[in-house]
Amino acid sequence: MEIVILPDPGAVARFGAAVLADTVRRDPDAVLGLATGSSPLGIYEQLAALVQAGELDVGRASGFALDEYVGIPEDHPQSYASVIRTEVVEPLRMDPSRVHVPDGRAADIPAACAAYEAAIREAGGVDVQILGIGANGHIGFNEPTSSFASRTRIKTLAPRTRADNARFFDDPDQVPTHCLTQGLGTIMDARHLLLVAQGEAKADAIAATVEGPVSAMAPGSILQHHPTVTVVVDEAAASKLRLADYYKHVFANKPEWQRIAVPQP
Ligand code: GLP
Repeated sequence: MEIVILPDPGAVARFGAAVLADTVRRDPDAVLGLATGSSPLGIYEQLAALVQAGELDVGRASGFALDEYVGIPEDHPQSYASVIRTEVVEPLRMDPSRVHVPDGRAADIPAACAAYEAAIREAGGVDVQILGIGANGHIGFNEPTSSFASRTRIKTLAPRTRADNARFFDDPDQVPTHCLTQGLGTIMDARHLLLVAQGEAKADAIAATVEGPVSAMAPGSILQHHPTVTVVVDEAAASKLRLADYYKHVFANKPEWQRIAVPQP
């Protein structure tokens, strides 16, 4: 696991965008794993700026969202289909026909989940998967005690997740109780995992993910078993890492050939 501790959310966004831009420049047909939530928004804004400046073309890349609510229409502004369209597909000028979101409205939910898994496989698997993390340690919507072997399926949202996401809805009661999410096993199949977190509210979850015992109580901790993980955090989200100074030393002394060119402000 590579832990990159940066001074502020702006630096986190620039670094995350550089990782994704590098992936797409090396392979214009790359398959991107897309996350919703506030954590990756800065990355998407940075990428959109590169696209608008003519420095990056994401038009041939494909995308697979991590998750979707069950019980709200597709055109609801908080459906992840809407969020991915407005925050990612449109600003990055991606091809909408290549960007997929689990179908939370399907009459046959298990069939829709199986079809989603098949679509990821047919696309050749995810090259780089962006991840945020919930304050309770969830990735995607894999709440604590989710199976490490899980695939795309329906889940019941934890009360804390519903409360955390209430800020996106007019009324806390409108937050759906269920979702579809890629499983932890699905996420672990991606070739590169890029976890981003900012702010002190994520410090416990980041410490449990990076340094805690691998436990289904901290779903992010499964990332310790993945060979290629980049955790990019600001100082506040890193504040509970016991080996923070070591991670900074490692990053500062990285061999030049391993570096990604990150644009400065
Ligand atoms: C949400 C999403 C996750 C996201 C997490 C953190 O509910 N399902 O994919 O990473 O919770 O959200 P945020 O980035 O807004 O803190």
